[in-house]
Amino acid sequence: MDYLEITGPVTLHGSVKISGAKNAALPIIAMSLLANNTVRIGNMPAVVDIKTLLKLIENLGGTFSFSDENTVEINTCCLTNTKATYDIVKTMRASILVLGPLLSRFGHCEVSLPGGCAIGQRPIDLHLKALEQMGAKITIHAGYVQAEAPNGLQGTHIIFDKITVTGTANIVMAAALANGITRISNAAREPEVVQLCEILRDSGVVITGIGTAELSIEGTKGKLIDIVAFDVIPDRIEAGTYLCAAGISNSTVTLQNVRPDHLEAVTGKLEEMGFKIDTTENTMTIHPNSSIKPVTIITQEYPAFPTDMQAQFMALATQADGTSTIEERLFENRFMHVSELQRLGADIKLNGHTATVTGPSALSGTDIMATDLRASSAMVIAANIAEGVTQVHRIYHLDRGYENLEKKLGNLGAKIERLSE
Ligand code: EPU
Repeated sequence: MDYLEITGPVTLHGSVKISGAKNAALPIIAMSLLANNTVRIGNMPAVVDIKTLLKLIENLGGTFSFSDENTVEINTCCLTNTKATYDIVKTMRASILVLGPLLSRFGHCEVSLPGGCAIGQRPIDLHLKALEQMGAKITIHAGYVQAEAPNGLQGTHIIFDKITVTGTANIVMAAALANGITRISNAAREPEVVQLCEILRDSGVVITGIGTAELSIEGTKGKLIDIVAFDVIPDRIEAGTYLCAAGISNSTVTLQNVRPDHLEAVTGKLEEMGFKIDTTENTMTIHPNSSIKPVTIITQEYPAFPTDMQAQFMALATQADGTSTIEERLFENRFMHVSELQRLGADIKLNGHTATVTGPSALSGTDIMATDLRASSAMVIAANIAEGVTQVHRIYHLDRGYENLEKKLGNLGAKIERLSE
């Protein structure tokens, strides 16, 4: 098993190119199941989760190519199989994204239930309830969601009880081939959902309300869609992670290929902490800060502060002058990094869904264990400023969502090496 060996403390400098967004690319790959043509997608991040979903598409009978230039071409014309099996779904919950498109295209499908998750229970009840409202008959049998809609799905009014990102994406895709108009209220407004809707719109599907909580999608009555070629939007969470890596190490770092407008909640908090950030249309430069101010963070749905940046800000808060509070509202168990940051010397107290972080703490290198994707990146950020050597184990979590992490950080001046146990 690979691990990262990081020697600190370091100051970073230079620029880093941000990759395409994993969480935008995943629904887009699933969307290729609705296509009449070969779908060409640029700026595709070469990370494990993407390869997992492409493998699932292949298992269903689709074909794909993935070029060295981060371009993927997917063809699903001759799909033979509509069963997403446990062996793949258990490794990545986002596999549930094939449920909506498969059901709307074929009128039946089976998708394994994903099972447990490190950061919280993460049920899929809202996806299933919405599909039932669209006329699907859904049964759970032997660990599988079995869905049928022999006459196609029927547009209706879905009101999500809770905002769900992949739930919204699933229903948008199901609605795209349905009969009639589907209205979605309380839809997710994340840029990743917006991009999915924009691609479908640019491909001829009539969608209104894009970027708002009220979406309306006019289905094609089962007619497959000619999907336009496009590039995946930059990964706002990867970008935010590098901003935190720069901030904690008092560095000047420039991000290239970034969308500053997708990061306003994150940059707002960095500015509250005293950092100065210069932006252009597609770059951001963060400058050092002589005294990091403590901050209050509450994770919420977009456009508020993202849960996927909570762990990285906790690492950063360990160096603030005073006490920060971080409240996690989306996932009930997304604090697994706390005990690992404590092993490095952080002063963090947990009380239910709120962590209190008192800084600045002198961190010192030791062995720590990656627990989930974003928690792992927080550990790497902290290790960069810890005195001595830190070994971050179980980095397969990082490989799921960060493209070339050690190379990118190494180019910025980090002393980081991937080794094998
Ligand atoms: N929820 C339900 N029922 C459902 C669906 C969701 O109760 O049917 C709850 C969840 O348990 C959670 C809340 O609703 O408490 C929000 O979950 P959501 O469905 O929005 O999360 P997701 O779609 O499963 C995506 C990202 C996550 C990110 C969350 C929140 C992808 C592939 N995943 O997950 O990203 O944390 O939205 O923004 O887009 C990551 O990249 O590390 C990651 C975990």
